[in-house]
Amino acid sequence: MSRFRSVIAGIGSYLPEKILTNKDLASMVDTSDEWIKQRTGIKQRHIAAKGETTADLGTKAANAALKAAGLEAGDMDLIILATATPDLTFPATATLIQANIGMVRGFAFDLNAVCSGFIYALATADSFIARGQARNALVIGAETFSRILDWEDRTTCVLFGDGAGAVVLTGEPGAPGMGERGIIHSYLRSDGRFSDLLYVDGGPSKTQTVGHLRMSGNQVFRHAITNISGSIAKVLDDTGLTVTDVDWFVPHQANQRILEGVSRRLGIPEGRVITTVAEHGNTSAASIPLAMDVAAKDGRIKTGDLVLIEALGGGFTWGAALVRM
Ligand code: ACO
Repeated sequence: MSRFRSVIAGIGSYLPEKILTNKDLASMVDTSDEWIKQRTGIKQRHIAAKGETTADLGTKAANAALKAAGLEAGDMDLIILATATPDLTFPATATLIQANIGMVRGFAFDLNAVCSGFIYALATADSFIARGQARNALVIGAETFSRILDWEDRTTCVLFGDGAGAVVLTGEPGAPGMGERGIIHSYLRSDGRFSDLLYVDGGPSKTQTVGHLRMSGNQVFRHAITNISGSIAKVLDDTGLTVTDVDWFVPHQANQRILEGVSRRLGIPEGRVITTVAEHGNTSAASIPLAMDVAAKDGRIKTGDLVLIEALGGGFTWGAALVRM
C-alpha cells in the first residue's frame, strides 16, 4: 500500500474579542495581578461573548487555516476537532463546523483528550492521511473553558481562556523522512489512574449537568513536568535527534513555570520556546495551534523548521510530536 506523509499546508487561529485581565479577575475573586503573574505567567485571557460557541471559534480558525493553505472547504476530506467543551453533547461539534465552512463531503468527528487534544487529533489525522483514507484534513483545537469554570474558585478560574487554532494537513506521497516537510513522529500516552486530579464534576451520564473544572494544581504541576519531559525525550530518542536539532518548541501553554521547568530539565534554551501563555492563558486543546500561528505569523517559525509540540491534560493524557514545517 502506498504511504503518504502529512504536511502542514496552512495554520489559522481565532481569539474572542473580549479580554479579561488579571486586574479584572481581582475584582471578582480574592486574587491579584502579582500572584497570577508570579505563579503562572498569565497576564490576560480572551473570553467568548455570550452566545459565541466552540463551533463559532473553531469555524473562524478553520477558515483562516484554509485561507493560509490556499485551499477550500470542498478540498477537505476530514475534520477532527479536539475539544473538551463541545457546543452540545451531540452531534459532534466538528460536524457543526463542517456545515459552517460549507463542506459537504468527507467526515468529521470530535476527539476529547483535553489539553493534549491537539496532539492526539494531529496523530489521528496523520494516520488517516498515511493510509490514503484522507488527502486533506482540518485539525482544529477549539475551546470555551470559560463555560466550565467555577468563577468563584480562585485556584482554577485565573488559569484558563477561550480560543481556537487549526491546521490544514495535506498528504504528500512518500513516507515521512527527517529532511522532508511533514509529521515525522508522534507519541501518545494516557493513564486513567490520575483522573481525579483534573476533571469536570458534571456530565450527561453521571450528573446530567455540565459541571465545573476541578484540579489539584500542585499534583498536576508535578506530573506535567515529569510526563512532558518524558514524552519529549521519547520522540527525540525514537528519531535519533537531540534538543539541538529542534528549531522551535511549541508547548501546550498551561503555565510559564511548567514550561520553564521542562526546559531546564531538558536543556532547552529559552529563546527557542514559543510562549503565548501571558496573553492567552491556558486554552486547552487550542493552545498549541494558537501558539504555532502566532510564531508563523511573526516570522519565527519558517518553512523547513523542525518543530516539537508537547502537552499534558486531564486523564491524564499526554504526548509529543515532531513536525518539519
Ligand atoms: N490568587 C491568590 N492566591 C491563590 C490563588 C489565586 N488565584 N490560587 C491559589 N491561591 C493560594 C492558595 O489558596 C494557597 O494559599 P494557602 O497557602 O493560604 O493555602 C497559596 O495560594 C498557594 O497555593 P498552591 O496551590 O500551593 O500554589 P501553587 O504555587 O502550586 O500554584 C497553580 C497554583 C498555579 C495552580 C499551580 O499549581 C499550577 O500551575 N499547577 C498546574 C496546573 C495547570 O496548569 N493546570 C492546567 C491544566 S493541566 C495542563 O494544562 C498541564
